[in-house]
Amino acid sequence: MDSIRVVGGNPISGEVTVHGAKNAVLKHMVAMLLAPGRYRLDNVPGILDVDIMGEVLEHIGAACTRNGSVITVDVPDKLNPEAPLDLVRRMRASILVLGALLARGGAARVAQPGGDDFGSRPIGMHIQGLEQMGAEFELRHGVLNATAPNGLTGTEIFLEFPSVGATENLLLAAVLAKGSTVIGNAAREPELADLANLLNAMGADVRGAGTSTIEVYGVPELHPADHTVVADRLVAGTYALAAAATGGTLQVNGCDPDFLRMELRKMEAAGCTVVRGADTFTVSGPERPNAQDIATLPYPGFHTDMHPQMVAFLAKATGTSLVTENVYAARFRYIGELNRMGADVHADGQHVVIRGVDNLSGCEVDGCDIRAAAALTIAGLSADGETIIRDAEHIDRGYDGFVEVLASLGADIDR
Ligand code: EPU
Repeated sequence: MDSIRVVGGNPISGEVTVHGAKNAVLKHMVAMLLAPGRYRLDNVPGILDVDIMGEVLEHIGAACTRNGSVITVDVPDKLNPEAPLDLVRRMRASILVLGALLARGGAARVAQPGGDDFGSRPIGMHIQGLEQMGAEFELRHGVLNATAPNGLTGTEIFLEFPSVGATENLLLAAVLAKGSTVIGNAAREPELADLANLLNAMGADVRGAGTSTIEVYGVPELHPADHTVVADRLVAGTYALAAAATGGTLQVNGCDPDFLRMELRKMEAAGCTVVRGADTFTVSGPERPNAQDIATLPYPGFHTDMHPQMVAFLAKATGTSLVTENVYAARFRYIGELNRMGADVHADGQHVVIRGVDNLSGCEVDGCDIRAAAALTIAGLSADGETIIRDAEHIDRGYDGFVEVLASLGADIDR
């Protein structure tokens, strides 16, 4: 097990350029299964989840080669349409191959994902939408066997909730379906719009991605394309909060501040100064933040994947803050770890109550998950003394060079 050691007290200041988004690149890799040939993706982060998705593609028959921030993927004519349990367990995003494999070859076998640290995380909306398009599912021995005996046909699907994964699975299925598909109450995430850009470059006809109604006009076949992955707004937001929590001034480059509209507004309300540019923004932290009330919501609301980091920032606010988690049933494991550092935080149902304290003090904590580990690092950067974050591998799933970047911005941190 790997740990991150951080000694608090130094402001996080300077300039950082963010890498491509985990939650975009993983879907782009799946999209490549839709047509044989060679693809090139640029701005690909060196993170564990990309390696795991590479393993999923290799299992299916594709070959992935990395050269720095570029990956090349060769997709053969014939695929092995299967995502086994060990890969789905390691990374839930593996289930996105369902839509693409059904569209490409009319069959897919994907292990049914179980619960995880955020609660049960069902995939009913993925399945119901694909069924509406003509797919049939059978769950046998923990594996979802999907077939489309008569191919997939476009239809109107209205999602109960704007699920990112369900929207993406249906989009991947719809591009090669017969006729047109309308996805209503679709997720509006920038990463999803980036996926639609790649699909359109491959010859698809997707309109309205990034809004809550996506129209897809099915085409008979697609072709390979090259693409540059959109910036990771969660990485941008995490470094911005590290600066905010330590009273530093950080210029974040390569990310449209509009992608963090609500998060930056809340940081301003908490006392940060934010200067927005075209593809850059600068955040300066206050001496102590003002307390805030925040509710996580699908985009363009406050992102659930910024919730733990925001709580770490508000832990030292002058007053009591309230963060309501609306996206996940159970994203609270980090709270106990934060309290070990002297924070005064408790969860009451979906609400997290944060009573601001004067100081945090470093100790050993568990990383829990990607964003929790990032949040505990932020807490450690603003705490007295040394914090050890165990299970630091969680960070590797979504942040390329996390420790090195923070060290270059003034942190006393190592691995
Ligand atoms: N949901 C259902 N039924 C479904 C699908 C989703 O009830 O059929 C529920 C989930 O249980 C959850 C909520 O809807 O409570 C939102 O889930 P969504 O499908 O939107 O999320 P996801 O596609 O599984 C992606 C990101 C997550 C991010 C969420 C929300 C990827 C690989 N993952 O997950 O990212 O939190 O959207 O924005 O894109 C992370 O990066 O740390 C991370 C967890």
